[in-house]
Amino acid sequence: MKDVFILAIETSCDETSMAIVKNGTTVDSFTVLTQMDTHAKYGGVVPEIASRMHTENITLVLEETLKKSSITIEKVDAIAVTYAPGLLGSLLVGVEFAKTLALLYKKPLIAINHTIGHIYANNIDNKLEFPLLAMVVSGGHTDLIEMKRDYHFKILGSTMDDAIGECYDKVARVLGLPYPGGPNVERLAAQGKYTYKMPRPVLDNTYNFSFSGLKSAVINLVHNELQRGNEIRKEDLACSFQTTAIEEVVRKVELAIKNTHIKSLILAGGVSASHYLREEMKKMASKYKVSVNIPEKKYCTDNAAMIGAAAYPLFLEKRFVDFQLNASSQANIE
Ligand code: KG4
Ligand code: ZN
Repeated sequence: MKDVFILAIETSCDETSMAIVKNGTTVDSFTVLTQMDTHAKYGGVVPEIASRMHTENITLVLEETLKKSSITIEKVDAIAVTYAPGLLGSLLVGVEFAKTLALLYKKPLIAINHTIGHIYANNIDNKLEFPLLAMVVSGGHTDLIEMKRDYHFKILGSTMDDAIGECYDKVARVLGLPYPGGPNVERLAAQGKYTYKMPRPVLDNTYNFSFSGLKSAVINLVHNELQRGNEIRKEDLACSFQTTAIEEVVRKVELAIKNTHIKSLILAGGVSASHYLREEMKKMASKYKVSVNIPEKKYCTDNAAMIGAAAYPLFLEKRFVDFQLNASSQANIE
């Protein structure tokens, strides 16, 4: 069969990214322009600034991606774009740009759900091994999903309140660490010990998660200690928080492994960049002889290569969309 090249576009949050992906698995060209430094000044992503910066940068990112590619845009087989979920204004920039390219170069258009993109990051330089469990841990999601084949998703459980990444970011803020919080909390935690007692969510017999209690506990502890004039051992608090949060994720995945007949486990989303999470998950899964796949770090956080990977099965089935495609801040994956 002829090779299939997909030009993929991702603008759902604060990264303007494009990639050309061959056969859903080989990255031919890849660009990420992050706005992180700008948003860091405000302690989090400012939606209006994000969409304006996508608009300013998107043509440059296309030029750069095509320059690095082994093919020209005329040779691309389809254009794929993240249409949901995410920041509406940011998504719209990508969706309108993708439509324009598809119209101009007469290419089919493929609409991709961002969360599914994170899952398919595991298909880059690899092959998804079904049946599998996917643990999606990002700034917006904490979902445990069973997949028996391509594009067949059964959500076993989700967070009832905050996403785990959001929780990392809030804890980072109260500890005075810059945005994005996850990597900074992890760095600090590596120097600390588990000395602070943390509450554990009590959703024992479900696959659902809850992180708001843990988040509030850290915030209250910091405020109370400051009021009393006590010093906070920040690295110990970061370590206590991280250990509790990750233990909870590992515990739920272990429960699912025991109750399903899966061959492999994949991690997806920004928090899967966490070294601690990766190691704890591998330790647990080795007891059950389940293989663990985790994307390379650059494909864990938001990027367009994963969108190109997720678009390939849809391309094979000719699941194209027309120019009525609209962006949406929320979407289900089932
Ligand atoms: O997937 P992503 O780039 O964006 C969303 O779709 O949400 O995930 C971003 C999240 C942020 O909350 C960030 O703090 C977290 O991923 N993150 C981490 C690490 N690297 C990024 N959390 C924990 N440890 C890390 N090393
Ligand atoms: Zn994401």
